[in-house]
This record gives sequence, C-alpha cells and structure tokens, in this order.
Amino acid sequence: MIRVLFVCLGNICRSPMAEAVMRDLIAKKGLTSDIKVDSAATSSWHIGEAPHKGTQAKLKEFGISTGGMKGRQLSAADFEAFDYIVGMDSSNVRNIRDMLGQPDHPKIFRFLDLTPHRKDVPDPYYTGDFQETYDLAVEGCEALLNKIVFDLK
Ligand code: 4NP
Repeated sequence: MIRVLFVCLGNICRSPMAEAVMRDLIAKKGLTSDIKVDSAATSSWHIGEAPHKGTQAKLKEFGISTGGMKGRQLSAADFEAFDYIVGMDSSNVRNIRDMLGQPDHPKIFRFLDLTPHRKDVPDPYYTGDFQETYDLAVEGCEALLNKIVFDLK
C-alpha cells in the first residue's frame, strides 16, 4: 500500500481538491486497493470542516464526490504514516519541513515540481479561481501517479 498526503494552509481548498482528484484518478486506473490518499493543513483554522464551497462545487461539476472529507492538521505521526507528503506551494513545503523536523527528506516536495510548471498552486481562497485549482490538480495528480508507478519499479 502506497500512502499519499496532500498539504496546504487551510485543508479546505487546494489539498482537498488534489485529494479528491487523485482518488478519482486512482479509481479509474483500478488502483484503489494499492494507493491511499489523504490531506491535511499546516494551520489549525479549519479542523473538522468540509471542503470550501468552491472546491465542492468544482468537483461536483466533474462528477467527483467530497462526501466525508473533513479538515485536519498535519501531525508528527504523518511523517512515518505517508510515503509522499506533497505541499501545494513553497510555503506549505517549508511549514511541513519545520513541523515534521525534516529539513531535506525527499518524500516531502512541492506538488507542481512534478510538472513543467514548477510553481505554487495559486490559492483560490484569495483568487476565487477554482477552475485553475482543478486544472492544476489534474495535471499534478497525473504526474504524481506516474511517479508513484515509476518509483515502484
Ligand atoms: P487552502 O486555502 O490552504 O488552499 O485550503 C486557504 C483556506 C483558508 C484560509 C487561507 C487559505 N484562511 O485564511 O482561513
């Protein structure tokens, strides 16, 4: 079982988008029993909350469920519990490294560094552009799934 954790600031906009898109992609490839996906926040601001309305609406538009998803904060135990710990932007990656006490472990990296974009996922909490978040989530998740399959070989 491979375990993937997406991390952003609030765990209501970007990391739940990536989590739901990744789970959908994994299901479509018949890999549900091989890869587990979760998401978490660096902050404690939205613990227990459902994803942001904008994330929910965009995923619904593409037939992807957010049922049962609830915000939680990253914890020290996540370092051992996950094989890939993916920050949605560079400040998320810095905070993950600090919170887990892991300054340079390769299992912690920035999501879009796996794509030609090599940039932060802009935060739709501020931009309001959930289509952009969705499009980048699809692109990044496809790249991540390719990496996982490659790493397995
Ligand atoms: P996220 O977006 O990190 O993509 O979930 C945000 C969610 C909430 C806040 C900021 C960013 N906030 O300030 O509450």
